[in-house]
Amino acid sequence: MSKTELLQMGGYPDWDQEALDRDFVVHRYFEAADPAAFLARVGPKVRAIATRGDLGASAAIIAALPALEVISVYGVGYDAVDLGAARARGIGVTNTPDVLTGDVADLALAMWLMARRRLAEAEVWARSGQWAKAGFPLTRRAFGGRAGILGLGRIGRAIGERLAGFGMAVSYSSRTEKATPGWTYLPDPVALAAGSDVLFVATAATPQTRHVVNAAVLAALGPQGVLVNISRAANVDEAALMAALKAGTLGGAALDVFEAEPSYDPGFRDLPGLVMLPHIGSATVETRRAMGQLMRDNLAAHFSGQPLLTPVL
Ligand code: 8YV
Repeated sequence: MSKTELLQMGGYPDWDQEALDRDFVVHRYFEAADPAAFLARVGPKVRAIATRGDLGASAAIIAALPALEVISVYGVGYDAVDLGAARARGIGVTNTPDVLTGDVADLALAMWLMARRRLAEAEVWARSGQWAKAGFPLTRRAFGGRAGILGLGRIGRAIGERLAGFGMAVSYSSRTEKATPGWTYLPDPVALAAGSDVLFVATAATPQTRHVVNAAVLAALGPQGVLVNISRAANVDEAALMAALKAGTLGGAALDVFEAEPSYDPGFRDLPGLVMLPHIGSATVETRRAMGQLMRDNLAAHFSGQPLLTPVL
């Protein structure tokens, strides 16, 4: 039987690449010198897209693939996939929920501690020898405070569960009130921020959540407050965030995601109280193996006539 033709939007670890190359005729969009000519040549034969959370699949790509049946996302976020275009053509879309939840939640707490206890600066202090001249300035306590979680999906909930071990009082904001172990529901993001020492942004990015963390939310979080974003950059107004850090009206921020990633506004580099990470929430061997497997299992399910394992559409 001839292999199914697949369009690959970006790179994967070797173990996934080998498995895809074994099971499909893989067309690497991200390596094409002339993407338009490449799509015109291979597009008519392509029945599947393998993509990543950060790359998705645009309406233009979907339109260039008349035989497309399924889009499998390596990542839980599917905001970069044009769902309207996929839905209109009856194209299946899958993502990789659950398998990455624990690692992303772990990273969120690490980012909070980094920002709150100024760990990156303290590390440089020790390593540079400055320690011999002076002790590191005192920071603020992390445990026992008030945490706000914006978006109580799987990852938001896992963050809340971990925070119990830090004796934090947890509040959250989401579209609807959820069953929780005693967490406070505060639907208004400004009210949530006003009652929080740390605000974790864990909401899926949609047109409605664009810049949900705006100047008013940052002002409510205040000069001792810390913002942690492990979701999507679009959920935070970057200009307002930069202004708040610069003015000292926000205590600190830790970002794993940037609007222009893998690039970013150079203004971020010298901001006081900022922790910057290169989108590594799910980046462990264990999780990335599980994400790759689930991405490929969804493709296999589709092409063997089985229901999709983790369908978005
Ligand atoms: C990945 C992600 O970094 O799950 C997501 O939505 O953003 C991440 O897990 C990405 O999909 C892999 O490049």
